Amino acid sequence: MSARKRVGILISGRGSNMASLIEAARAPDYPAEIVVVVSNRPGAPGLARAAEAGIPTRTIDHKGYESREAFERALHMALVDADVELICNAGFMRLLTESFVERWHDRQLNIHPSLLPAFRGLHTHERALQAGVRIAGCTVHFVRTEMDAGPIIAQAAVPVLPGDTPDTLAARILEAEHRLYPHALRLVASGAVRVAGETVIFAKGERPGPALFSPPLPEG
Ligand code: GRF
Repeated sequence: MSARKRVGILISGRGSNMASLIEAARAPDYPAEIVVVVSNRPGAPGLARAAEAGIPTRTIDHKGYESREAFERALHMALVDADVELICNAGFMRLLTESFVERWHDRQLNIHPSLLPAFRGLHTHERALQAGVRIAGCTVHFVRTEMDAGPIIAQAAVPVLPGDTPDTLAARILEAEHRLYPHALRLVASGAVRVAGETVIFAKGERPGPALFSPPLPEG
């Protein structure tokens, strides 16, 4: 196997998607290794989780910088110091400027808990329920300056069930996220996909695999 891609994960909070990537990367045949986890929030629970898993962590508190650009310079340097080749945003709650996004063009992934391009931004699950959609899901995409937009790498669909609240729907989608993100990072890190124009295409001979990861419907 060719060298594993060096991945840095950006978090702001609990880090459950981060944990799913760390777990996947334990497999010897996984094409990526997690070399650093960076949080913009001191004390983010994900930092302790990463440290327990033996992954080096950094905290770069955005509040300690006089400008967005200065914060991003520090973030960029932390990633460069760790020889990062790919970034995975996993619940990272800072908008990034064009300069940072362009430096990592087609090398920065994000996960969002909706079937993009529907329901970008915050309060995703509430808005999906208000809209009455029957299928919800999650998306991993390459990052662009526009929030929750960019070439789509992989998506998973989950059903919306009668009686769902934003919390029950979020929990069902989160399970799918934990399977989808490792799958999407594998596609990118192994070179199975690349961006052409502004969509993701598969290399010759590569197959997308199952598009839907929906868990079985509960009984009753
Ligand atoms: C996830 O739902 C992710 O899709 C969204 O923020 C949440 C982060 O959760 N961007 P976690 O920190 O990975 O547990």
